[in-house]
Amino acid sequence: MNLVLMGLPGAGKGTQAEKIVDKYGIPHISTGDMFRAAIKDETELGLKAKSFMDKGELVPDEVTIGIVRERLSKDDCEKGFLLDGFPRTVPQADALENILAELNKKINFVINIDVDQDILMERLTGRRICKDCGATYHLVFNPPAKVDECDRCGGELYQRADDNEATVKTRLDVNIKQTKPLLDFYEAKGYLRNIDGQQDIDKVFTDLDRLLGGLHE
Ligand code: AP5
Repeated sequence: MNLVLMGLPGAGKGTQAEKIVDKYGIPHISTGDMFRAAIKDETELGLKAKSFMDKGELVPDEVTIGIVRERLSKDDCEKGFLLDGFPRTVPQADALENILAELNKKINFVINIDVDQDILMERLTGRRICKDCGATYHLVFNPPAKVDECDRCGGELYQRADDNEATVKTRLDVNIKQTKPLLDFYEAKGYLRNIDGQQDIDKVFTDLDRLLGGLHE
């Protein structure tokens, strides 16, 4: 099962990716998570990515494509993969086609989680994430039982550095501009499937699961 999860910042990619990975056992490849890990470890990649992420801008294509190429070549991707947040530009989508052709793989679906722009600011500024296991919550829409503590592992919850209002605004502007050509690219290839991301979290997953279940029939 080779999947790409698309959607504007806050659409619910990470939330649904957790559920897909739990059920289908494929590796979750999130370029955002990879950059955040590199920033935490203070690697060269982290230094490069940080200045762009802090401003809400995209990390340059050549950097991003390089890390995805390396990750998709790992053994655990043999049984499939879930790309989250990549590709985000048409040059990244072109590069992904080339990488997959080299690896003799094909995308099954590009799933676009469709959410009205107006509600994304509230989703992102209210998001909290577990420092230990990475589980995602929302103070209003998906609250943890105890404020600041993860239901799953008891870890401390934090707010992402780029989830402040000013940076979210730039992230939304940047991503809205890039999304339409990317959706057209995948529509033309017949890979694109749209999922209504404005339903509650479990209902979005029910729709996704129904789509993915079809790949096993
Ligand atoms: P990245 O980490 O990918 O962030 P993003 O695309 O901005 O997306 P998010 O992770 O913010 O949102 P999400 O869709 O995963 O939403 P979530 O499920 O958490 O990228 C960060 C940065 O890295 C980029 O800005 C860029 O600089 C760089 N980068 C990454 N990839 C790149 C690339 N390919 N090229 C260049 N640069 C790249 O949900 C959000 C909140 O809403 C949560 O609180 C959640 O609980 C809640 N929620 C989720 N679903 C629902 C629902 N159905 N109803 C109500 N609430 C919901």
